[in-house]
Amino acid sequence: MTVSSAPGKIILFGEHAVVYGRPALAVPVTQVHADVEILASDRPGIWIAAPDIALHSDLNSLPSDHPIAAVIHNFLFLSRTSFSPAGRGAEEEGSFPNLSIKITSTIPVASGLGSGAAVTVALVRALSSHLDYPMSDEEVNAFAYEIEKLHHGTPSGIDNTVVTYGKPVYFVKSPPSPARGGAGGEVETFTVGTPFTIVIGDTGLPAPTRDSVGDVRKLWEAEKERWEGVFDEIGEIAKQARNAIERGRTKELGGLMNQNHVLLQEMTVSSPELDRLVETARTAGALGAKLSGGGRGGNMIALVEPEKADSVASSLMNAGAKRVIVTAVGRRSNAP
Ligand code: PMV
Repeated sequence: MTVSSAPGKIILFGEHAVVYGRPALAVPVTQVHADVEILASDRPGIWIAAPDIALHSDLNSLPSDHPIAAVIHNFLFLSRTSFSPAGRGAEEEGSFPNLSIKITSTIPVASGLGSGAAVTVALVRALSSHLDYPMSDEEVNAFAYEIEKLHHGTPSGIDNTVVTYGKPVYFVKSPPSPARGGAGGEVETFTVGTPFTIVIGDTGLPAPTRDSVGDVRKLWEAEKERWEGVFDEIGEIAKQARNAIERGRTKELGGLMNQNHVLLQEMTVSSPELDRLVETARTAGALGAKLSGGGRGGNMIALVEPEKADSVASSLMNAGAKRVIVTAVGRRSNAP
């Protein structure tokens, strides 16, 4: 049996502006994860069970653009067609063993916690290991970026990157180029000077990233100069935040989060539900708060002193959050 796991993620700073080439910071959230188990099977074919989404099917019965089918087809295609001196990819058409694949995930879907990227990364790593087709982190990341593109149109690449590396990342998207492969951008992992605590509050509203990204694009197309200025301000906040995190000046992050949230509101990607949770967290003693990810629904995040985490979390629940997660960024297991 082969097993593989990939964490969830949150964007700390820079969402949306990252699509326009400004830097963004994201961190893994290990309290939630996608897990894949692969077993050799007696039954002919590749059988997939994903009980969380009531999926029990063989690969050939799924539409080829189904997110899970797309990962498996693309992996099989890649491993059959590429050939390296190490002998990778020498499999012939039809020679794959019969497989039983089980996929589970505790990452809420469509809420900005990277569930799609985590399933892709866990699944491709499990396939790569089970079928003896080794892939580096860079290759896994590039693969996951291609799958993200199938589902989100023009993703920056930050989700697949943080989920693949499982470390805090400072990410700058590469300019578009048809010739460019890779995982979408320049990636720097960075160190956390002093661990800090984040409370994540879920509005429970689904938040299709494609819609909010599309709406921001319309704003930008109508008034490029104005929005380029806003993206610059957000990029500056992300740079200052990285600096503060590396130097352990955690308290500065609260104000930077608040500033980033105002700019996201201006971009129309907040919502009354997100604003209510952000305000609730601040009133309950958070050092700062903002929405995280595509916006409109999904999650918000609040920076808190560790001793305030529980009271901020319960205030968020009382204000209507569907779920809260407390995570310590920079601690080895990021346990709360
Ligand atoms: O909603 P999420 O967490 O998948 O994040 C989307 C982040 C955006 O910057 C809005 C889009 C992107 O591709 O980076």
